[in-house]
Amino acid sequence: MRRIDTSKFGPWAVVTGASSGIGEEFARQLAASGLHLVLVARRLSALEALGGELAKAFGIHYRAVGLDLTTDDFLKKMEEATHDLDIGLVVSNAGAMTAGDFLTTDHRAFGQHLAQRRRGGLLLVASTTGLQGMPFAAEYAAEKAYVLSLGEALHVEFQKVGVNVTVLLPGSVDTPMIIASGFDPATLPMKPMSTQQCVAEGLAALSANRATHIPGRLNRIMAAVMPRSLATRMYGSMMAKVIARRSASASTQADRVNEQHASGNETRLTRIP
Ligand SMILES: NC(=O)c1ccc[n+]([C@@H]2O[C@H](COP(=O)([O-])OP(=O)(O)OC[C@H]3O[C@@H](n4cnc5c(N)ncnc54)[C@H](OP(=O)(O)O)[C@@H]3O)[C@@H](O)[C@H]2O)c1
Repeated sequence: MRRIDTSKFGPWAVVTGASSGIGEEFARQLAASGLHLVLVARRLSALEALGGELAKAFGIHYRAVGLDLTTDDFLKKMEEATHDLDIGLVVSNAGAMTAGDFLTTDHRAFGQHLAQRRRGGLLLVASTTGLQGMPFAAEYAAEKAYVLSLGEALHVEFQKVGVNVTVLLPGSVDTPMIIASGFDPATLPMKPMSTQQCVAEGLAALSANRATHIPGRLNRIMAAVMPRSLATRMYGSMMAKVIARRSASASTQADRVNEQHASGNETRLTRIP
């Protein structure tokens, strides 16, 4: 676990996408440092369970905010949920491969507060997919590229007010998103990294105020040496396999449904007197 400076990044941190995966691990490592947490995601019960567990383990306070970040008024709801708290750190992590990135505008809501208090941090979770195009997940990769560009610029803008801004660019990480996106972990070019390592490296990079950080040495080497065109083709072939597997499984399911319908019809027919 990575401990961070609570006098700079505390007393409260917001973590979006805290109900699962990387965001949940951010919540764990920040709670272990003694930060109070605003936990944001749609599944309120998962946030309450996590908050309760962390409050008991580390004596922190938490606020669980069940919120869909794709809704138009999410910023207003976030402000309502946090206006009475001294937020020192925002971890903008929520995302889904099918829907892309959400809180890409939360810097507007929290940036002013962080700048006024002249200390704190903003950690934006992008992805190595944002370093080049990604065929068949083009919007996801483009949104991650947006987050990268946004964070690099904010890193410079916020330097003069003492606020650290870091963009974290994970490669594959062992979370439910891998399976939900249709990847077979066994066929990925590299074994997915643990959430613990990903988050510990992210918090170290934030503490050191690095503009960007790719967790995992091998991921860093790949990003440094692989030409973008080759990386685009590699991602394209990975996604093509995902799509092929999805359509194979969809047609198998369709066959099963057809068989069930056929046998159901037979059953009904035999019951008619
Ligand atoms: N896993 C990887 O390999 C990988 C690699 C690079 C980058 N990333 C990035 O890391 C971040 C976290 O992903 P993860 O791997 O930890 O995935 P995950 O385990 O699926 O977690 C995604 C989180 O985002 C929340 N979320 C999704 N849709 C939401 C919505 N509409 N409103 C509010 N919250 C929402 C989910 O909570 P609810 O479902 O409860 O709303 C969940 O807490 C994402 O930005 C992802 O793009 C992941």
